[in-house]
Amino acid sequence: MAKENFYTAVDIGTNKVCAILARVGSEGELKILGTGIAPSQGVQKGRIESINEVKAAVAASLEEAQRYVGREVVTGVYATISGTHISCLNTKDELRGFEDLDGVTSQQLHHLIQSSFPHVDATQEVLHVIPIGYEVDGLAGVRNPTGLHATNVQLESHVVLGDATTIKNTVKAIEGGKVAVNSLVLQSLASAEATLTGDEREMGVVLVDIGAGTCDVSIYRDGQPWYSTVLPVGGSQLSRDLAVALRVPYHIAEEIKVKWGHVMPELIRADEEVVIPGAQGQPKRVVKRRGLCEPLHQRMIEMLKLIMLRVSQAGLRQLPTGGLVITGGSAEMAGLKQLVESNLGGRVRIAYPDGIVGLPSQLRKPAFSAGVGALLWGIKHQGEKRTYQNGEKTLWGYKSLARRFGRSKERVTR
Ligand SMILES: Nc1ncnc2c1ncn2[C@@H]1O[C@H](COP(=O)(O)OP(=O)(O)OP(=O)(O)O)[C@@H](O)[C@H]1O
Ligand SMILES: [Mg+2]
Repeated sequence: MAKENFYTAVDIGTNKVCAILARVGSEGELKILGTGIAPSQGVQKGRIESINEVKAAVAASLEEAQRYVGREVVTGVYATISGTHISCLNTKDELRGFEDLDGVTSQQLHHLIQSSFPHVDATQEVLHVIPIGYEVDGLAGVRNPTGLHATNVQLESHVVLGDATTIKNTVKAIEGGKVAVNSLVLQSLASAEATLTGDEREMGVVLVDIGAGTCDVSIYRDGQPWYSTVLPVGGSQLSRDLAVALRVPYHIAEEIKVKWGHVMPELIRADEEVVIPGAQGQPKRVVKRRGLCEPLHQRMIEMLKLIMLRVSQAGLRQLPTGGLVITGGSAEMAGLKQLVESNLGGRVRIAYPDGIVGLPSQLRKPAFSAGVGALLWGIKHQGEKRTYQNGEKTLWGYKSLARRFGRSKERVTR
């Protein structure tokens, strides 16, 4: 087996670190070779707070994933990144004054895309520059202008930025021994890769990955990502609220939430009772299940409001036609679909990695959307090796190309 056939994704979450090792078979099918899951420590709301703890969890997950292969094969990984340091903007770049001999060439477009990297100050790093669409001589919505005769070609790109120090720490936590980071992938874009259908992207959709510590949001329009943000809220808050309400330790509240939790208490029979374990020498207790679910309902409503606030800050007055697609471990919260439908209306789908040939059943769960998506992202963007050191090094010859093609740049901040 040639080394370059292997693809590895590492999803660093607040709850778990997940490594997935795969290769693409001769028919183009995905073959998962191994999966490793390690409990995550040292990550708070998506942000790395203890490099050593994360390093240990990443190493453990990679070791477990490689155990199935029987030898160390991982050299480059595609890793997810999240946290409230993430911001986005959409830029417009222009190709002007180029020689239109035979229409726009693919090389000119390639250079236009490369020159879309914005200048950032030393505190920030560019994570993604994703072409959204072209405007050719004033005609918007052109997907591929190759071959068109034109005097002015504009490219709109979705740019995702992150805090340079946080990115450096993330890379440091993963790299070591033979393992290097090929590329970092925003968690919501990774989850979208594994869950969204082509129709949803075209209709416009809000994708939310609700994990333990963060809600990772990406909005798609006309087939492309258009807005990305991270909220510092997630399933751990639901468990914490329950722990306070029931006066039990967090880990017991977590168990109770998964077993009996429901975010639509009105759908629970009023007389249904459950026995909750006693903690710290206290005996077991019988409580009404509906009452137990009340704080979960309140917190989830709060989270939905925060998500919708970001949707409106992105410039949308309502959910797009594709609606809301929810994934991440907390998407399994009982009653979530009904709660969203009754509060927001529109189309709602609870999603997990699906429609991927060769994907084993244990990865077809909402909690693995980001990990599987990062793997798909890596396969799609293979060969793109990034360095994350801020400044000129990430710009891939940006200045010289700008001079060559007379580029002008306009920023459209969202
Ligand atoms: N059946 C379930 N019902 C309710 N919540 C669940 C269920 N299964 C998992 N969860 C919750 O999902 C969360 C973990 O999700 P996930 O594994 O996606 O998080 P993560 O990726 O580690 O964290 P993050 O992406 O937020 O940094 C936990 O809060 C857990 O309680
Ligand atoms: Mg996650």
